[in-house]
Amino acid sequence: MQYDIIIKNGVLVTSTGRYEADIAVKGEKIAVVGQNIEGDAKRIIDASGMYIFPGAIDVHVHLQLPFCGTVSADDFENGSKAAACGGVTTIIDFAMQKKGKTLLDAVEKRREEADDKVCIDYSLHAVPTDWSSKVRDEMGRVMEYGVSSFKMFMVYRSEGLISEDDALFSALEESSEIGALIGVHAESATILDYLTARYHTQDMMKKYGAYCHALSRPNYIEAEAVSRAITWAEAAGGNLYIVHMSTKEGAELVKDARSRDVKVFAETCPHYLLLEDELFKSNEGHLYATCPQLKKQDDMIRLWKGLEGGELSIVSTDTCTFTREQKNKWNGDFTKIPFGMPGVETIVPLIYTQGVQTGRLTMERMCALVSENPARLMGMYPQKGSLLPGTDADIMIIDPDSRQIIDYEKLQTNCDWSPFQGWETVGMPRYTILRGEIVAENGKFKGKTGAGKFVKRGKPDLINFCNDY
Ligand code: URP
Ligand code: ZN
Ligand code: ZN
Repeated sequence: MQYDIIIKNGVLVTSTGRYEADIAVKGEKIAVVGQNIEGDAKRIIDASGMYIFPGAIDVHVHLQLPFCGTVSADDFENGSKAAACGGVTTIIDFAMQKKGKTLLDAVEKRREEADDKVCIDYSLHAVPTDWSSKVRDEMGRVMEYGVSSFKMFMVYRSEGLISEDDALFSALEESSEIGALIGVHAESATILDYLTARYHTQDMMKKYGAYCHALSRPNYIEAEAVSRAITWAEAAGGNLYIVHMSTKEGAELVKDARSRDVKVFAETCPHYLLLEDELFKSNEGHLYATCPQLKKQDDMIRLWKGLEGGELSIVSTDTCTFTREQKNKWNGDFTKIPFGMPGVETIVPLIYTQGVQTGRLTMERMCALVSENPARLMGMYPQKGSLLPGTDADIMIIDPDSRQIIDYEKLQTNCDWSPFQGWETVGMPRYTILRGEIVAENGKFKGKTGAGKFVKRGKPDLINFCNDY
């Protein structure tokens, strides 16, 4: 047999254009891209009427994360199956440094948890939580290992995860020397803790319920931290990446900084683009608690504009799944809600439906946001995030005519609720192909447990990614 798979009659989508072509896959790689490919294959996929994208890459997921007194409900096996069902072929999770241990200890420990379970390819961001000059010295070795991004929390002081400004500044300085990317969760810890205490009274919680989560996190909580991180990045000449950005102020700050050539990039997530903080006032408002919290219409509008204009380069999900039972442990106290939401399984149809179908994004821009830019900024391009011959055959085939109502009961995730329950979507991934193997078909997992590989990443490409139309 000449090829393993030939995908025929589809339209290939890249960040710069779309065109009709066939793709032939041999082994783990794309062998040929061209018109009317002849030859035998074990499997011919007729992709008439469908769009062929590089597999989606979700650079922000937390599988089996110990957090808020519990552990997120999708583990490496089930969470990566869910990702595959949603068209995602690579995820990036997090390796949290333990006090007194090294970053490489954290990466190796996380790999032990993931390697035998993970069903799609994956990488890790290293998370310093115990900063010292030794940790700074280690960053270069972590890069050589293949982990080229570091994530620092400007919040979560009581959880012991916070990086103070001196740590962030020092990491940014180092990033300019070694070419790493410094991701930050930008929220202003001191004022957030102050406001949290204000709402953490019986009277306030009786009056506002889960909405206290929103009240304690006004936009300036994110804006101040984004502004401060940008100030440090500019002064240090570092490479900054704002994770899960949720505010219009954040988008403006990134835009301004980029106009001064500060190396700052940002991602947002479907829930910040599509859900409003009014949800916290509903009976089940506590389910939606995530950090940063959901914002308002004008933020959503500005974030969509930022995706189009380039101040937001990536859509990720910040998947951190907690079941109803886990969320219900809050018992009326907003500070006890496990923070996070499911998302990796629905990012593609949501962005296709709410972005491309509505005309907010072109199909090419969607390709940049969910596939090509993640690969470039995270140092995996063109092995991941492209449809070029010789690269990994990571492919997602989207059917623009498929209609699907999001229903957690039909999804792979362990989550027993969905923030998008009942939403109608089109653009369901019909096939997800990982290194030449079909790992999901029509939303059902078809791959093998443990077949995902750890991806050794190179230096982030901060120049060539697709930043706007
Ligand atoms: O609420 C969230 N986002 N949970 C996951 C941890 C984080 O801050 O990203
Ligand atoms: Zn975060
Ligand atoms: Zn996160």
